[in-house]
Amino acid sequence: MSETNFPRGLAERLRGILIDADYTVSGVRDRLGDAAARALAREELVPALRATGGEERLGLLLRLWWLRSPIPARAARSILPVDELAEAGLVTVEEGADGPVVRALVHLGPWELEDGGPGFVVSDPKVRPGGGEVPRHDHVVGAGGASSTLSHLIVDGPVDRALDVGTGCGVQALHLASRAREVVATDLNPRAVRLAGISLALSGVTGARLAQGSLYEPVRGERFDLIVSNPPFVITPDSSRYTYRESDLPGDTVCAELVRQAPEYLTEGGWCQILANWLHSDGDDWEDRVGGWVTGTGCSGWVVQRDVQDPAEYVELWLRDSCEHGTPEYTRRYDAWLDYFERQGIKGIGFGWISLRNDVAQDATVRVEELRHEIEQPVGPYLPDVVDGAMTALRLTDAALLSAHVALAPGVVEERVGRPGAPDPERILLRQRDGLRRVARVGTVEAALAGVCDGTMPVGPLLDVIAELIGGDAETVRERTPEALRTLISEGFFRVAR
Ligand SMILES: C[S@@+](CC[C@H](N)C(=O)[O-])C[C@H]1O[C@@H](n2cnc3c(N)ncnc32)[C@H](O)[C@@H]1O
Repeated sequence: MSETNFPRGLAERLRGILIDADYTVSGVRDRLGDAAARALAREELVPALRATGGEERLGLLLRLWWLRSPIPARAARSILPVDELAEAGLVTVEEGADGPVVRALVHLGPWELEDGGPGFVVSDPKVRPGGGEVPRHDHVVGAGGASSTLSHLIVDGPVDRALDVGTGCGVQALHLASRAREVVATDLNPRAVRLAGISLALSGVTGARLAQGSLYEPVRGERFDLIVSNPPFVITPDSSRYTYRESDLPGDTVCAELVRQAPEYLTEGGWCQILANWLHSDGDDWEDRVGGWVTGTGCSGWVVQRDVQDPAEYVELWLRDSCEHGTPEYTRRYDAWLDYFERQGIKGIGFGWISLRNDVAQDATVRVEELRHEIEQPVGPYLPDVVDGAMTALRLTDAALLSAHVALAPGVVEERVGRPGAPDPERILLRQRDGLRRVARVGTVEAALAGVCDGTMPVGPLLDVIAELIGGDAETVRERTPEALRTLISEGFFRVAR
């Protein structure tokens, strides 16, 4: 693809053509139908090709831009400025068996912007090993599962300046555009910078700046209210084989560096949110390792491990992306990758998120945990409450807790488990029906507190009443409850009302 700029006028015209033809998320969904859409999600093109035959506009656009199927040049010219698109490197005109055809050089997919308006994402076409192809070194990956994991994590609300590090096809920048006055999107790969620029232009986003360079280098001296990154976190011996997933830094250093340097680029109270991979190695506790990255910044933070893979699972996952299964090359690279993990004492690889907030307070709190169950999505709207809950809990001394007004958090229910008919339950559980959907086993006192506390009375006097009801000693109850209550506050079961 040529590295020339994509003319603004061409972007506006192409946007108009795509929208007129209903090449939008809902238009495409309706056109394909459920079965073909589900087949596409499984990488099976045939049902979609069958659903888009003929010379009608939407079908032609789908075949060209999404299904990688050449379309007759005559039909293409009737709906698209083919020569200008060829000049810009988005399509090529070739001789086919039945005459000239137009073939797309990029994947151009419809996207729904956060305000519901039509957007478009331009990336390199997905490479499907098995078709004899491997990705080019500077392959620009399209929006995928990890992209949406990150976008669901991003805290809500408007911000002044936002930064997307490693923008790729520009998908995060598109998310940020609806909430930030100014978006800066950077990438090491010049081809990514260009494709992200086309995605933004086709989506009608005008207030974004694109810059090429490594990590924070293109924005040195600038500050942002929100930094997001889905970085090239894959841990491999062949660093930089593929820019879209591997950096030239060893191990998990790229993620550590993004975190370590974040405060230099964040405004006060600004958030940095990244996806990351981290090492589980011999004699190294992952919680200390990753928690240490955040603690070192002086920011409050929340680290969540969502998955852990053993070295073989990890290698297979990433080899599948780039190498033909069962070939000698596959075996050689698999072996070399495992060798590398063995030499480094790597026993597993964690995948998760890191969110940090540039707190000015001295008592920043870092919460590190594993959450592998399904949680409410998107996380962004309630993420600040999670960090605040952990921070509040840590600040409260026992005395302060006893005089605090505490309320049960919305959505928490109680479950009692025991033999039917038995007077006392074997277990009492508090369960969050939404948000992080945690479950905590609690004692009788905490369960009773959950039943009565609505923020109107301080904890101490409530505990005195509970002690009397259960026939316990008030002093002992006052002494023992704060620790358990602190944990329940830090996990979001209770909130401090005042
Ligand atoms: C996994 S892709 C993420 C793309 C997109 N932001 C998303 O969420 O889907 C990682 C991106 O980081 C870029 N990248 C690789 N090394 C980088 C570096 N040192 N500094 C900045 N970006 C880098 C790659 O070119 C690639 O576009």
